[in-house]
Amino acid sequence: MKTIIIYTSKYGCTEKAAYLLKNQLGEGTEVVNLMLAKEPTLDRYDTIILGGSVYYGKIQKQMTAFASKFQNELGKKRVGLFICAGAKGEQATQELKASFPEKLYNHSITTEVFGDEIYEEKLTLLDRFVLRMVKGKNRSVNGLSKETIERFALAMK
Ligand SMILES: Cc1cc2nc3c(=O)[nH]c(=O)nc-3n(C[C@H](O)[C@H](O)[C@H](O)COP(=O)(O)O)c2cc1C
Repeated sequence: MKTIIIYTSKYGCTEKAAYLLKNQLGEGTEVVNLMLAKEPTLDRYDTIILGGSVYYGKIQKQMTAFASKFQNELGKKRVGLFICAGAKGEQATQELKASFPEKLYNHSITTEVFGDEIYEEKLTLLDRFVLRMVKGKNRSVNGLSKETIERFALAMK
């Protein structure tokens, strides 16, 4: 049984989450950054995990395009979906649902919001400005939830 984690990440939080998840799933798990590598060939895997981060309510367009292009193929696999996002509760669940095609979401073994991290020094000026507008000066970051990542891994095993 081969597993691949395919992710998109703007500043590295989702990348970190993808590797934390890989550690939980075992060394044989492959990890691919869809924003840098070419699209992986899915027929080599029976378990496929897709993850990305949310900006302005949306996951990266590369992930949207990939999930919709390979929807039929993914429908025949064991699939797990996750996002990294600052939102909590119902809003976070809505963002998670909106990030992937409905059919794929319903087909998935598990879906989770892993939390967020913000690396301020890396942000573009625009992102820094928007963040300040949205959160104010005393912005709090929830951090990545190791517990949620472990729960996700257990469900996928
Ligand atoms: C400019 C900006 C806009 C954001 N917009 C949202 C948003 O609409 N919804 C949300 O839940 N989180 C939002 N976030 C939080 C990110 O999703 C979060 O920081 C995530 O961990 C980033 O992951 P990445 O480094 O892999 O891109 C935003 C963050 C920034 C900096």
